[in-house]
Amino acid sequence: MKGKIIITGAAGFIGSHLSETLIKLGYSVIGVDNFDAFYDISIKKNNLSSLLNSKSFQFYEIDITDRSKLFEIKEKFDTVIHIAAKAGVRPSIENPLNYINTNINGTQNILDLMLQKNCKNILFASSSSVYGNNKKTPFNENDDVTKAISPYAFTKKSNEIQIHTYHHLYKLNAICFRFFTVYGPRQRA
Ligand SMILES: NC(=O)c1ccc[n+]([C@@H]2O[C@H](COP(=O)([O-])OP(=O)(O)OC[C@H]3O[C@@H](n4cnc5c(N)ncnc54)[C@H](O)[C@@H]3O)[C@@H](O)[C@H]2O)c1
Repeated sequence: MKGKIIITGAAGFIGSHLSETLIKLGYSVIGVDNFDAFYDISIKKNNLSSLLNSKSFQFYEIDITDRSKLFEIKEKFDTVIHIAAKAGVRPSIENPLNYINTNINGTQNILDLMLQKNCKNILFASSSSVYGNNKKTPFNENDDVTKAISPYAFTKKSNEIQIHTYHHLYKLNAICFRFFTVYGPRQRA
């Protein structure tokens, strides 16, 4: 066994593919997901169907905003891949508080869980939306990302800052990936 990894959002499009791939590579995966109702829950349950047959996969149905439930996870792990989020730009304009709660408070709970478990490695699913209305193309990681144009974007940029702060304070190894439009089998509608 290569190591134990927590994947938040493991029932989603990217999280379920990633869980399957890491298990094939010899890792043990702890999946966390709350089957958020953003799209049909049966699709998410189906995404997990082959994973649940694997001895290398454990699943916790937990909402990452539920701090006490999250802290009930008993296992130790080496790495967190934090993918769970309220995704989507347009719905974030209609309901910013939901995005702030899941994306910012939920991420804070994940960082605090890492400290409790002495886990030093985090990979995070940020988004190209942090680039806002940047007219300069192609975008560059050094471009100004302080001019968000949606609540979704400001939560993702806030997450990058949260994670940087914990890298600074607690020497976490951290990588934030800014995904563009990810597509493929099982993609979100
Ligand atoms: N798909 C893309 O094109 C794209 C682009 C940029 C960034 N991203 C980011 O990548 C990540 C994964 O995207 P996806 O397309 O797989 O989305 P997805 O909606 O399929 O997966 C997200 C998963 O997170 C879970 N989740 C949501 N809130 C939760 C909570 N409070 N507690 C626990 N689990 C929760 C959902 O149930 C879902 O299974 C997201 O963070 C998203 O913002 C995706």
